[in-house]
Parts: sequence; C-alpha cells; structure tokens
Amino acid sequence: MDLTDAIYGRRATRAYTAAPVPKEVLERLVDAAIQAPSAVNEQPWDFTIIQNTQLLDRISTAAKAHMTATVPNVSFPEHLHESLESPDFHVFYHAPVLITISARMGAWAVENATLAAENLMLAAHAQGLGSCWIGFAQRWLETAEGKRALGVPDNFVPVAPIIIGHSAASAAPVPRRPPQLRWIG
Ligand SMILES: Cc1cc2nc3c(=O)[nH]c(=O)nc-3n(C[C@H](O)[C@H](O)[C@H](O)COP(=O)(O)O)c2cc1C
Repeated sequence: MDLTDAIYGRRATRAYTAAPVPKEVLERLVDAAIQAPSAVNEQPWDFTIIQNTQLLDRISTAAKAHMTATVPNVSFPEHLHESLESPDFHVFYHAPVLITISARMGAWAVENATLAAENLMLAAHAQGLGSCWIGFAQRWLETAEGKRALGVPDNFVPVAPIIIGHSAASAAPVPRRPPQLRWIG
C-alpha cells in the first residue's frame, strides 16, 4: 500500500469479527513497529501480544473500574463516563488481539513507544486489518497488577495498548480541523 493511502486511510476501528489474526501477520506488524526511530537508537521496545479472550475481558473490566475510581471525570468527555459505567462496554471492543507496546523507562520512553505504535497501526491498515489505541486501558496497565498481567519487567512502562483485528464494519473518515499554523520568518 502506498504510504499516503495508509496515512489517510487508517481509522480507529471499534467493531471486529472474531476471526483470528495469523501469528506471521502479527510478527510482520511488530517488525514494522521496530523500524521506527528511537532516541539514541536504544530500541527500548517490548511487545506483549494477548489473544486470550478471557484475559482481555478481565483487563477490560479492571481498566474500567480503575479509570472510574482514579481518573477525575473532568479529564474526559461526559459520554465516555457512561461508557465506562456500562457493564456492556468492552474497552477492547472484543477485538481478537491486543498488542501492548512498552518501553524501558528513560527520558524518551513515551516517544519511542508511540512512534512504534503509529508504525504498527499503519502496517495493520496496509495488511487490511483494523486497529485502535486504547487509552482507556493505559492507567490500569501501568499499575503493578497491570504490568504483571503483561509480564513486563519493573523497569519498563506500558505505553501503547493497541487492538488489532479484522474490521466488522468500515469506519467513517474522521474530519480534521484545520491545523493551527504559525509561520515565522
Ligand atoms: C492516545 C490515544 C488514546 C486513545 N484511546 C482510545 C480509547 O480508549 N478508546 C477508543 O475507542 N479510541 C481511542 N483512541 C482513538 C481515537 O479516538 C481516534 O484516533 C480519534 O477519534 C481519531 O480517529 P481516527 O484514528 O479514525 O483518525 C485513542 C487514540 C489515541 C492516540
């Protein structure tokens, strides 16, 4: 797929079929992720790939409870409070795969993991797969219990939980506001 098509065509996907994603495809996505630049070329990435639906259900429930209990309501829009409180809301939208990108703690852990995450999402789109970064899961995954569930070492921080799967419905394009641009000189 042409890079421009990938950049403009990728969408946050929130409806998935139960079809599994083959291991070789997931390996290709990780390989695309690690082509990202990293500060001082440290390549400090760590990938946890979860396909166990019961574990994903458990993480969804824990993440919702943790968000509701710890994150001030004012920090995200009203309609999302209702989602978090609904027993039917699954933070991973029942996607068959969750890839969480963690990074060794350091000055640029978040930047390193985030650049890998964008590569991974674009590569997923190029493979005909949907993806979505799930911020709702982040705060719980950062806890000691969350890190244990991911199996990440203590000196790593989970940054980017990304669901992957076959889209059940095509997602409508999300219009962009004109960028605030300031030309100097
Ligand atoms: C840091 C981050 C956290 C996000 N968290 C969630 C989330 O928890 N749930 C969700 O459905 N989408 C989440 N998204 C997806 C955004 O809502 C989505 O990217 C945005 O609406 C623009 O749509 P597009 O990706 O299709 O262009 C997140 C995106 C980012 C970058």
